[in-house]
Amino acid sequence: MKVGDTEYRSIWNDDEDPRSVHVIDQRALPFSLEVMTLRSAGEVCDAISGMAVRGAPLIGAAAAWGVFLSFLEHSPESDVYSAVMNDAARLKATRPTAVNLAWAVDYMTDVLNKNADAEVMKRSARALCDMEAERSRSIGVHGLSLIEEIMRKKGGGVVNILTHCNAGWLACVDYGTALAPVYLAHDQGIRVHVWIDETRPRNQGSRLTAWELTNHGVPCTLVTDNAGGHLMQQGLVDIAIVGCDRATASGDVANKIGTYLKALAAYDNGVPFYSAFPVSTFDMSIDSPGQIEIEERDADEVRVIAGMPKNINETQAKNANPSSLYEEEQQVYICHPDMDAVNYGFDVTPARLITGLITDRGICGADKKSILKLLS
Ligand code: MRU
Repeated sequence: MKVGDTEYRSIWNDDEDPRSVHVIDQRALPFSLEVMTLRSAGEVCDAISGMAVRGAPLIGAAAAWGVFLSFLEHSPESDVYSAVMNDAARLKATRPTAVNLAWAVDYMTDVLNKNADAEVMKRSARALCDMEAERSRSIGVHGLSLIEEIMRKKGGGVVNILTHCNAGWLACVDYGTALAPVYLAHDQGIRVHVWIDETRPRNQGSRLTAWELTNHGVPCTLVTDNAGGHLMQQGLVDIAIVGCDRATASGDVANKIGTYLKALAAYDNGVPFYSAFPVSTFDMSIDSPGQIEIEERDADEVRVIAGMPKNINETQAKNANPSSLYEEEQQVYICHPDMDAVNYGFDVTPARLITGLITDRGICGADKKSILKLLS
């Protein structure tokens, strides 16, 4: 996707410096666009666990590059295979919920097993990224049909879409999952408008989704996490589309905490609720919500909120160079510092609340029979 006149992906490796990988540091957005360079598997682990790199497909892609960098680091050693497998295990352990992470690491260790060659591994990591981008594009094509149908029913009126967290191009290699159909619709001249949940505690909605949609010129409005039900009651949402970090064989969907509440409100108000993801997000080894491990994060993310001080005026903002502007960000407690808090990163929306799953292979019902048919 473009930022200004420059075409970006959220992760890339270039021929000029093939021993490193570049990512957009999501922690600095929306205040500045910063590129981070990763040169070892350890740095990739830190970027994933430190939340510089976020979103299920992207953390998979980053981990794939982590396996490649590990191979480069250890290839003079006699037991390169064990060293890389150790790093592979460390990469897999960085985040527990998104299944794409393990899938991508296994993809790369399979390559290593068959052909322990740096050039082959680099090509494989690049191919995985291209495949993820292509899968996202296909999700967009399939999801577009739903938006077109609503647009026709509304006689060409604006299609209002509610999303949660960030499932756009920043979270994937390109295009996005939930946002891919939105970008395609907008680019084709369909009038869309997106309601963005702020997505406490890390605010992926207000910081990332709002930045990327605005940057692309898609009309959008930020709302608090609690506003979705009200918007749906008022008839202001035509469709809800969210991403997914792991889907069971029965069509239950683990996604950012708060997704389940949006699905309940959608169900109660007859609003179609879809989850969009590449088929690599299915975990066919499980078939009930309770089998998905939910990441529990530092409670300080609940107690503390980070943002730009309100008194940074426009002139200061324009004059500051982008990185120093990001450094102006401040953290404030929103409760007593000793308050007990718990921070679940994800929840699971049961299949019965989901209208359908938008995947790169097509749209299917959130039930085992439809999923098996889609994957066959
Ligand atoms: O904790 P994060 O920021 O990695 O969570 C991201 C999400 O939950 C996304 O909605 C998800 O990965 C869906 S697909 C891009």
